Amino acid sequence: MDNVKSYVEEHKDRFVSELVDLLKIPSISADSKFKNEMITTAQAVKTELEKAGCDLVEICDTPGHPVVYGEKIIDKNLPTVLVYGHYDVQPPDPLDLWNSPPFEPVIKETELHPDGAIFARGACDDKGQMYMHVKALEYMTKTNQLPCNVKFMIEGEEEVGSEHLGWFIENNLEKLKNDVILISDTGMIAKDVPSITTGLRGLSYMEVEVTGPNRDLHSGLYGGTVGNPINILTKMIASLTDENNHITIPGFYDNVEELSAEERAKMAEAPYNEEEYKKKLDINDVYGEAGFSTLERGSIRPTLDVNGIWGGYIGEGAKTVLPSKAFAKISMRLVPNQDWKEISELFKKHFESLAPKAVTVKVNTHHGGYAYVTPIDNDAYKAASKAYEKTFGKTPIPQRSGGSIPIVSLFEKALKSKIILMGFGQDTDAIHSPNEHFGIWNYLKGIETIPYFYKNFADSQK
Ligand code: BES
Ligand code: MN
Ligand code: MN
Repeated sequence: MDNVKSYVEEHKDRFVSELVDLLKIPSISADSKFKNEMITTAQAVKTELEKAGCDLVEICDTPGHPVVYGEKIIDKNLPTVLVYGHYDVQPPDPLDLWNSPPFEPVIKETELHPDGAIFARGACDDKGQMYMHVKALEYMTKTNQLPCNVKFMIEGEEEVGSEHLGWFIENNLEKLKNDVILISDTGMIAKDVPSITTGLRGLSYMEVEVTGPNRDLHSGLYGGTVGNPINILTKMIASLTDENNHITIPGFYDNVEELSAEERAKMAEAPYNEEEYKKKLDINDVYGEAGFSTLERGSIRPTLDVNGIWGGYIGEGAKTVLPSKAFAKISMRLVPNQDWKEISELFKKHFESLAPKAVTVKVNTHHGGYAYVTPIDNDAYKAASKAYEKTFGKTPIPQRSGGSIPIVSLFEKALKSKIILMGFGQDTDAIHSPNEHFGIWNYLKGIETIPYFYKNFADSQK
């Protein structure tokens, strides 16, 4: 793999322009208006996998958006790496907060990315990171250095809860057989502090609807006599956390994995500067569960957050009205041992019990997933760690992330695989936000690092 650096240097402009082309297709999985663009994107991924050297690439239909499957099997006796990624992206809204249109990629320098960053929806999450693997494969096949078999499973529903991927996996267990699953859909601490993601949080996503009177009412004629669903909903939400920011749902913490003092001390060694953290977000103070550090609050502790709340009059000017209904979307990030289905039930029961008789409450579960923690004492982790040492000149730090990739725990259950999360994004890349971007340095470094993982892993299985 020793010429990978020069290969990347030689082809970097093309690597960037190919990614830019992929980013131009608005593959928004949540919005059914973009169904055709989802198919166009799947086809583009297929073409790229074929160009990079896969022998077989298929677009596999599911009841939802298609999965792109590709493979290059060089020898059945060699180990197999399965690459997972997603070609769907989050909706770009709010559009007016973008400095350039989300599907017209532009390259701009930033303080953190002096070599330039590609600004577009999906640049980092996950088209850019997924495409690093396509280019790493290109390098290994074009230079005859692919040391093992490789399979790709690139889905189109990650951002909407991977609803049909479980179904796809159960129906293709033989085809997807592998020795390790490699994923780049997370981040790293900093360019000079490489890290490997060793944990993902689980998720339980709920939607609530509070109904008061059967129609909107004049707030003078009826104000003070009936339950205002917005007043009541906000009271109910406020009571879900106490003065220490502990979640008040009975049983919520019952199975939460508590870390030992030793593990917490180890975590605290990770480089982190609270002043910088606050400055980057323009906040005067951090906020969260009493008794835990910011790093802990954002990774090993469960949380409850309102993602959206609406109801009543929000147009221009003032309208004196008592709304009939109020709504909120509420998500809970979960940690190991919390069962998201159980937590969703606990939430539902508790939330319903909070409602005064003046209103009725409906609680629905959207989707969810289990938390996941990767071991660090296996061949796959060591192979990844050595790969970073080669290209970053530093041993990466294992770090648990606060984000979720709900399907990952199923990979382990259904495919009995070890999972390695080699993320190359940075927290400041604004994934899911306006002006999402991916540093060109990070993109190219990822392409350079991945082949060493293949080599180290293949060597370790001999
Ligand atoms: N790639 C992210 C998850 C992520 C990002 C993990 C950074 C760790 C670090 C993924 O695409 C994502 O956004 N997941 C969703 C969950 C999904 C069910 C919508 C999330 O975490 O909100
Ligand atoms: Mn992602
Ligand atoms: Mn995402």
